[in-house]
Amino acid sequence: MKSIILAGGSGTRLWPLSREQYPKQFLKLGETSLFQDTVIRCFKVSDISEIFVVTKKSQKFFVLGQINELGYEIPEDNLLIEPEGKNTLPAIYYGAQEIERKFGKSIVGVFPSDHILDDGAMQTISDVQVLTSDYLLTFGIVPDSPQTGYGYIKPEEEIDSRVSGFRVSEFREKPDIEYAQRYMNEGCLWNSGIFLFDTAVFFDEVIKHAPEISDTFESNIDLEVIYQQVPSVSIDYEIMEKSNKVAVVKLNKKWNDLGDFNSIYNEFEKDYKGNVVYECDDFSIGSTDNLIYSEKNKAVSLIDVNNMVVVDTSDALLVCPKESSQKVKEIVNGLKERN
Ligand code: GDD
Ligand code: MG
Repeated sequence: MKSIILAGGSGTRLWPLSREQYPKQFLKLGETSLFQDTVIRCFKVSDISEIFVVTKKSQKFFVLGQINELGYEIPEDNLLIEPEGKNTLPAIYYGAQEIERKFGKSIVGVFPSDHILDDGAMQTISDVQVLTSDYLLTFGIVPDSPQTGYGYIKPEEEIDSRVSGFRVSEFREKPDIEYAQRYMNEGCLWNSGIFLFDTAVFFDEVIKHAPEISDTFESNIDLEVIYQQVPSVSIDYEIMEKSNKVAVVKLNKKWNDLGDFNSIYNEFEKDYKGNVVYECDDFSIGSTDNLIYSEKNKAVSLIDVNNMVVVDTSDALLVCPKESSQKVKEIVNGLKERN
């Protein structure tokens, strides 16, 4: 199987830890970054010559450096640099086109690089390749709450007796909270953002549902021109919501999108006071269930403070209740407007 790793996004909800030029996939919250974890997972299904990374110019050196740290060197023609970010559909199209150029028609796994996923998921993904002759495969996670930042997938009848996959009757990207609750009650799954397809089926579906993407790529050879012209659209809205060739396979594995500080808090190890403390020396008293981040050797003290996020970097400070973590996006938008 060939792999496309998507690494061009700029997570804004982890500001000030992640920045436009230093997005969350390259952040090292543990020994390795989410991007490095994604590369390591891809080695379970592809060798280095079969892994294609799509990213933007400003992130090229993170990609090269972090792959080198793992002891590998990515072939030059597998590092795909987009002149500008145009969301996931152009990125995946570009990746699939380069894979066909190098290997011909192929089965391709698309892997976002911004979440935590149990390694065991790769076996499930590899096992269902047989379904790609007829379907664009998505991988679903059982939701634990109504979230508006995810796609929802409604599974219908089973499509194959050999492996467990279901035809999808509805795919709905980022519904509002009311619909998110409704989809959850109806037994829908969250879209993990991982896709598996045969390039032939993928290109057919793009021609059918998003011809402006295929036309732009096929009628130009200059990547700069392609990216000037191609619309900015995600595969979720443009293909998955429209195609009737979508199937879903359940991933009964640990998955966390780490979309905001609250989910980072939930994911990482807590001390006996329920605080997650990064880097700094914590001298807090009477304070529980906080996420505290500051630079190494800095003493940080919270007094009688509970359920808060405190993130202190050299040029920015964020303090907010954990439950307001999603609003960080609004701060970043405000900052962008000011600059
Ligand atoms: N190369 C490249 N270029 N990569 C990109 C671009 C781009 O323009 N835009 C986003 N990406 C990368 C991100 O870095 C991430 O790894 C992945 O593509 C998904 O993009 P996000 O922007 O993070 O999407 P999302 O989180 O809002 O939604 C997607 O993921 C959810 C699960 O986390 C959707 O697929 C949802 O349906 C899904 O539930
Ligand atoms: Mg994401």
